[in-house]
Amino acid sequence: PEIRREDYAPFPWLVPTIRMEFDLGLEKTRVRTTMDVERNPAADASPTIRLNGDGLQPVSLTCDGGDCAGHMMDGDDLVITLEGDRHTIEIVTEIDPSGNSQLMGLYASGGMLCTQCEAEGFRRIAFFPDRPDVLSTYTVRMSGPKAQFPVLLCNGNRTGEGEGGDTHWAEWHDPWPKPSYLFALVAGDLVARTDSFTTMGGREVELNVWVREGDLDRTEHAMESLKRSMKWDEEIFGREYDLDLFNIVAVSDFNMGAMENKGLNIFNTKYVLADPDTATDGDYDGIEGVIGHEYFHNWSGNRITCRDWFQLSLKEGFTVLRDQLFSADMGSAPVKRIEDVRVLRGVQFPEDSGPLAHPIRPDSYREISNFYTSTVYNKGAEVIRMMRSMAGEELFRKGTDLYFDRHDGEAATCEDFVKAIEDGTGLDLVRFRRWYAQAGTPKVVLKLEHEGETAKIRLAQTVPATPGQPVKEPMPIPLKLALFDRSTGKHGGEELVVLGEESAEFAFDGFAEKPVLSINRTFSAPVSIERAVPREDLVFLAARDDDPFARYEAMQELMTGYLVAAVSGDLGENEREAARADIARALEAVIEDDRLDDLMRGELMMMPSHSYIAEQMLVAEPGRIHAEREALKADLGARLASPFHALYDRAAKIEFSLGAEAKGARKVKTLILGYAAASDPAKAVELAAWQYDRADNMTDRQGALMVLAGLDSVERTDKLLDFYNRYRGNALVIDKWFALQASSLHPQVIEHVKALSEHADFTLKNPNRVRSLYMAFAANPHGFHAADGEGYDLIADLILELDPINAQTAARSVPPLGRWRRIEPGRARLMREALDRIAAAPRLSRDTFEQVTRSLG
Ligand code: ARG
Ligand code: ZN
Repeated sequence: PEIRREDYAPFPWLVPTIRMEFDLGLEKTRVRTTMDVERNPAADASPTIRLNGDGLQPVSLTCDGGDCAGHMMDGDDLVITLEGDRHTIEIVTEIDPSGNSQLMGLYASGGMLCTQCEAEGFRRIAFFPDRPDVLSTYTVRMSGPKAQFPVLLCNGNRTGEGEGGDTHWAEWHDPWPKPSYLFALVAGDLVARTDSFTTMGGREVELNVWVREGDLDRTEHAMESLKRSMKWDEEIFGREYDLDLFNIVAVSDFNMGAMENKGLNIFNTKYVLADPDTATDGDYDGIEGVIGHEYFHNWSGNRITCRDWFQLSLKEGFTVLRDQLFSADMGSAPVKRIEDVRVLRGVQFPEDSGPLAHPIRPDSYREISNFYTSTVYNKGAEVIRMMRSMAGEELFRKGTDLYFDRHDGEAATCEDFVKAIEDGTGLDLVRFRRWYAQAGTPKVVLKLEHEGETAKIRLAQTVPATPGQPVKEPMPIPLKLALFDRSTGKHGGEELVVLGEESAEFAFDGFAEKPVLSINRTFSAPVSIERAVPREDLVFLAARDDDPFARYEAMQELMTGYLVAAVSGDLGENEREAARADIARALEAVIEDDRLDDLMRGELMMMPSHSYIAEQMLVAEPGRIHAEREALKADLGARLASPFHALYDRAAKIEFSLGAEAKGARKVKTLILGYAAASDPAKAVELAAWQYDRADNMTDRQGALMVLAGLDSVERTDKLLDFYNRYRGNALVIDKWFALQASSLHPQVIEHVKALSEHADFTLKNPNRVRSLYMAFAANPHGFHAADGEGYDLIADLILELDPINAQTAARSVPPLGRWRRIEPGRARLMREALDRIAAAPRLSRDTFEQVTRSLG
């Protein structure tokens, strides 16, 4: 059945307090839940209370200490008839954590017990109104074998502990009322890195990062990131932590990145563990970002939670924006912005233009897990970022202060957020609210005209039709722009224009000559801009735009424009040559511009991704895109062999550190290896093998191995084996070993993936491992889009085998197949066949069923 946003009604009962007693065991855990319920004066009265369950049976059940007069199972839910206004309900349930391969609810991971309750996992532990608008104060007692579970953790503060014989117990109390999805419990043999943080109000908070014994020396970066997050949220958003204890636990079997449970964040080990030998620069950044993200949820998510799951972007969009701003402040802001836009365009734009398109505040769903999407998260962040750009930082802060103040302790809506920003900033956001309601990436067609001394910019927007939304209204689009004087290379100041209607015209005086337009600077709006722009203007901007994002954009546009035209067969040999020469000149200028740091230089050197190029075409031919992209890479590699070489040599002399300079050096080195792999494979193998051998850090080593994995050679075999032997037993690094083979450009990549799926270290039970092999493969256009459909079959087979084990992870592999409408007819038919085959399988999970049926359309 479909759940619809418009059907929201408050729950008829309040559950002010809940007490849970866990008798812990890996195979059998007994849970006694006692809750006080009272009628909700703000809701329609109901003769019954519905307690959600998922695969549970009540072992015992009492109401006010006696029999429950009327109760029955309705599907998975327990429905109890209640007459008066206040009752105490006590229910015992029994669960088998070791048999829980879905990793939702209470499950076992490597001998420890942990939980994941968002969105609807709590109902796999206990019968309860498992919805985010029912807030309760939790007291939890847990007991279990001391040797097996020496550490017992829960939300809030520990209020008691004791032992008797082989067992021990701990009692925890969380003073902050919370919805069930924020409940968490951990029991296991763990050790902690401990530190402390004193808040701006003088509260001393104990901080712990809990991991398995051997992993302790890889937790420093996580702890430092946590302290920086706490400080930053005080300084930038005025938010202070509200408990005396903050625990983070790292778990190796985890469906997502991490979870913001009150006072007890649970993390995928991938976002906790790092040292230079085993983690790349990207991993370090990811850890800082995710630690920040989960910490920031304490206010944007926990203190103010969501009324219902349609409001998910209320906490996720806002928290992603907060973590993006945090990471920008901790490192290179322009590079962070470029990375964020790359993710948006690489993942969210395709989502928005495909069968799974949905607004950041969806209207309906079957399975909420399917809506933890790049749209809700990343586009959600962009929508709030636009409000921030229009208001300016200072007023935006007034808006967020008002929001936190007004809704603290509540389960709020996206509308509440927009209203608070409106009241706090003074912006009129009436039309802007359409960004919450309408799916699809707006397209802005732009024309620049010049007459006399006036430059005129004409803008017209369309929001494309998306499933269920054939007709759209125009949305306010804030665009930052600058007009450059060709001869001086300068502009007279950045402007922010808002395209509030379907079309508008903006005139600027004082230009004797037609200026060069820099548009959507900093990517001020998540739209695509369509304009005919002379290549010389792009070359101009790529060399001189003072907005680093716009400069990156010009480079991308230069290459994308060429590739799209080349793939479409629109270019004669002379035009090809002229375009390639221009791109090479622009790239050479980037290599030689000594005002750039290498981190930024690396961004400017990057080619647009296959998926971004495909996104620019109505119907994509993956084989041709791949071929043209590789040909351009080879051409640039050959033309720029000597400046690339000089840059590599300079970068190779910089010694390892985690600082920006050394990080930038590592980035350009591996990019250069990539160009060389296309232009001079033999030389690339030699250089990559050399980089691999002398690497004193994972970034260099992985970068070299990635390049080697795509090229047939003795070194390929040698280094892959060396890497495996060197890191065997370190799951996160072995994940990289799987991923870099699955994403390689090697002609036999499909054979490799098949062989890897039979490898002793491969298992469908661990989501990180599944992602490292199959998600990497599905994102590898060259392998996934093999012309005979073998890549599609491989993913369909995976989905069918994985679905009964871990439905959430299986469903996440469906979207790549859903792109069929935008792919040439031969492959499109094969993709549909793969989807049909999945759809025909008996007993599909709700997760996979929803994704497959929506993908088929
Ligand atoms: N709230 C978590 C995070 O962003 C994600 C949890 C998603 N869990 C799920 N089962 N879909 O930070
Ligand atoms: Zn989140």
